[in-house]
Amino acid sequence: MSHRPKLLKVVVLGDSGVGKTSLMERFVNRRFSLQYKATIGADFLTKDMEVEEGGDNEEEEQGVRRWVNLQIWDTAGQERYQSLGAAFYRGADACVLVFDLTEAKTLEDLDSWRDEFLLQAAPRDPATFPFVVLGNKVDAAGGSARAVGEAAARAWCGARGHLPYFETSARENVNVDTAFHEVARQALKRD
Ligand code: GTP
Ligand code: MG
Repeated sequence: MSHRPKLLKVVVLGDSGVGKTSLMERFVNRRFSLQYKATIGADFLTKDMEVEEGGDNEEEEQGVRRWVNLQIWDTAGQERYQSLGAAFYRGADACVLVFDLTEAKTLEDLDSWRDEFLLQAAPRDPATFPFVVLGNKVDAAGGSARAVGEAAARAWCGARGHLPYFETSARENVNVDTAFHEVARQALKRD
């Protein structure tokens, strides 16, 4: 039995304004602000959490619960702040791709965020590296404000290796814990 929490590095990527910082603040510090303050450079928040180890197969035995220290790296979506380089991405155990459900372009842009990540992080397992996709601002995506349907988002994820998908709201705390638990589980499963 190991007592020390395992450190897992997670990188959060996506266009400016989709809510990357807000999702992390909600998850780690249980806070939310409507005020937008662009992230400059990079910073991280950490959270100790208990994660169920084990496969996706439901017939498998109940997994062992394990403490992990999730180190979540926030990045700037704005292009002019993007000069972080490979050191920032390297060693990541999982990558969270965030888009805004009310802005279709932010989903289209996830391909280039994913490509950039794979280029910079250069994981040994690019084909199976764990990405988790979050469609954020579901609270604001009612009726005609929604620009990306859930089926379309799931199809996008399906075409890229069946990436787990969650519709979240940092503002109203929808699916935030669930999503980060899945991120931690995927990261832990990798080694
Ligand atoms: P950059 O740091 O520029 O890359 O942006 P970011 O992705 O970190 O976005 P940020 O978290 O700063 O959020 C941008 C704006 O969207 C802020 O005004 C937030 O209050 C708002 N926002 C974030 N999440 C949500 C959400 O779930 N619902 C709604 N309605 N607004 C949100
Ligand atoms: Mg930010």
